[in-house]
Amino acid sequence: MDRNLALEFVRVTEAAAIEAAKWVGRGEKKKADGAAVLAMRKRFNQVDFQGTVVIGEGEKDEAPMLYNGEKVGTGHGPAMDLAVDPLECTDSVANGRYNAISVIAAGKRGSLLHAPDTYMEKIAVGKQAAQVIDLDAPVKDNLKKIARALGKKISEITVMVLDRDRHIKLIEEIRRVGSRVRLITDGDVSAAIATCFPDSGIDVYMGIGGSTEGVLAAVAMKVMGGEILCRFKPKKESDIAKIKAAGVKNLNRIFTAEDMAKGKELSFTATGVIEGPLLNGVIFEKQRIITHSVVTRGVSGTIRYITTYHHYYHNY
Ligand code: FBP
Repeated sequence: MDRNLALEFVRVTEAAAIEAAKWVGRGEKKKADGAAVLAMRKRFNQVDFQGTVVIGEGEKDEAPMLYNGEKVGTGHGPAMDLAVDPLECTDSVANGRYNAISVIAAGKRGSLLHAPDTYMEKIAVGKQAAQVIDLDAPVKDNLKKIARALGKKISEITVMVLDRDRHIKLIEEIRRVGSRVRLITDGDVSAAIATCFPDSGIDVYMGIGGSTEGVLAAVAMKVMGGEILCRFKPKKESDIAKIKAAGVKNLNRIFTAEDMAKGKELSFTATGVIEGPLLNGVIFEKQRIITHSVVTRGVSGTIRYITTYHHYYHNY
């Protein structure tokens, strides 16, 4: 993965995040998403590379831009597969709630799992506990092992979970063993990746969330040495055919971070739209706009936090 390309992608997520952030709290999730998509696509097409969107806004007939299969970039330079979410958490932006990011995961051709848009069951932890998790184990067993690996008491473990009815039993089980639950309304890409940063305060992410979000998180987790285990959980009957068409023969297969993001030629870039467990959001000042991003490359494993001060008269 080209070193400069990873940094070029920060400009792309910054642009998308700024455009999305202009819609925070305005109750317009489609407009927020549309603004982020437009900005991301425009900026991609200024970058010298040959990108193919493998996870994007959906199938070509339903998504006019950044659809699965769309080619982006100037057409010169390295060929990369892209998993993108110009705005992860459209509802959070529309309602002015916690946690939204703009995100790009990139890899060598064929390195990213082409997950169709359905659900996955997930468990994610940082490096220290990467070897001890098991998607089929009872919640209690996972939490005991994670606590031991992290050198904490089980009561000191914090699990981030999406606030959904489907998680009522999971939440009860976590509390029953004495661990803490932090509920979020949206945004399990950030929630999973936050487990790789001890100062995030999040030790584990658990629950059922989007499958494309699973792949996005897997790229970052792989680079940072964490682990995310996922298994497809089709939302509806027609999803089964889509999952099979993506080459997944066994629906019960558990995917590791390596299965979803192969090799080392990977990069992950995200810019915060609204503050969440991973990043701060966009700040609009009178003369400038401040963005907060993270970029990490598989080859070096380097993690960079980038705070950028943008001038209004330049592009925005
Ligand atoms: P969007 O970006 O599509 O709004 O997704 C937000 C999100 O919270 C994801 O982070 C999560 O994986 C998924 O939705 C959960 O799906 P659902 O809202 O259907 O429970």
